[in-house]
Amino acid sequence: MNDVSTENHEKVSEELNSKERQNKDTKCPRHEGVDGDVVPSKLHSHSNVVAAHYNHLEEKGLKERFNSPIFYLRNFNNWVKSVLIQEHTDKIREKDYGRPLRILDICCGKGGDLSKWQKARVEHVIFADIAEISIQQCKTRYEDLRRRLGRLYTAEFIATDCTKDTLRDKYKDPSIKFDIASCQFGLHYSFESLGQARRMLSNISECLKPDGYFFGTIPNAYEIITRSKKSPDASFGNRIFNIKLLFNPEDGYPLFGGKYDFHLEGVVDCPEFLVNFELFVKLAKEYGLELIYKAGFADFFKDYSGKYRDLLQRIKCFESYPATGNRELIGEEKDYEHAKDYMANRSDKTDNVGTMSKCEWEVATIYLAFVMKKCKSTWDSNGKQVYVTSTKTAPSK
Ligand SMILES: C[S@@+](CC[C@H](N)C(=O)[O-])C[C@H]1O[C@@H](n2cnc3c(N)ncnc32)[C@H](O)[C@@H]1O
Repeated sequence: MNDVSTENHEKVSEELNSKERQNKDTKCPRHEGVDGDVVPSKLHSHSNVVAAHYNHLEEKGLKERFNSPIFYLRNFNNWVKSVLIQEHTDKIREKDYGRPLRILDICCGKGGDLSKWQKARVEHVIFADIAEISIQQCKTRYEDLRRRLGRLYTAEFIATDCTKDTLRDKYKDPSIKFDIASCQFGLHYSFESLGQARRMLSNISECLKPDGYFFGTIPNAYEIITRSKKSPDASFGNRIFNIKLLFNPEDGYPLFGGKYDFHLEGVVDCPEFLVNFELFVKLAKEYGLELIYKAGFADFFKDYSGKYRDLLQRIKCFESYPATGNRELIGEEKDYEHAKDYMANRSDKTDNVGTMSKCEWEVATIYLAFVMKKCKSTWDSNGKQVYVTSTKTAPSK
């Protein structure tokens, strides 16, 4: 488990409050959200751009995916998600075998995790995403899978902006309690504004059972900032990806709305927002979500590759270097210097190693995985519900 630093929380909180004061005073027209949170007006919102982008992403065929320059990166991302799902469904079952598991898959896209939930033998999944066409594709893929397997978990599909709307109002049973909420590669879109991040966290936490898990994957803002600092125009990348900050870092790093352009070969090509992780942890705590694990993808690999080695091989997370059979390397020869060095330094003088091209690994290591646990709640002396966290009680939202 990685250590989670909390020392800068007070500083972040102060900055947050002053930034929000500035927002209220000086920024573009805004309207009040349902519970009084500040939400950018529809006119200025970025959500429509994101929805349009994901709605227009083409579904790639198997052959095209196999020949993609991010074939192994994609598989590695799927491995990280599978491990998160398997680990935490197993953990729940260790305590309560046979319990029917209910899941919220928020920012689900086209349902990249449909089969993972099936393998984890869950009972019911609610899939939610802002992109209507993606949700429609998710539903079609779910129905195909059910037809193929004969039986599958039950599911609901909700097309909505999870940073602005209350998801609970849209569930068939608004009293549903989830064992797990999963948000894969999507939470950062809510860091456009404090109001949107709050709505997202409220949707995630509201129906999560005490001791239930919330996990996900996001770009690591620290990594993005560190790498962008090395470039004169705040942009960096390689032949498969490019990131460019869309604000002037000399004016400081915004806590919300820290926009950057992210281009990833054939997958993402739209602006996203930096997630200040300490701030995220602090905000999440207000919703009864306490961080229990955080690791960049390189460390995540170290933590779990032993236990989930078979899966790494089964879903082809690494390519063989040098290439074997009639397969060509996905990258250029110079992308494999690390593999050559590794082989040269091994005492058994192996002539083949499983690896990822440098270009793909540079993308993978932008991301981090996190896990939070929903706290139990109690009542304070004023009859207000408060969460019992490991450090102190936090007011519930
Ligand atoms: C990179 S995709 C990840 C999809 C899926 N979770 C996966 O791992 O394959 C990010 C998803 O977040 C969704 N998203 C972005 N902003 C959203 C919002 N405000 N509400 C709901 N979904 C949103 C996008 O439509 C997109 O499907």
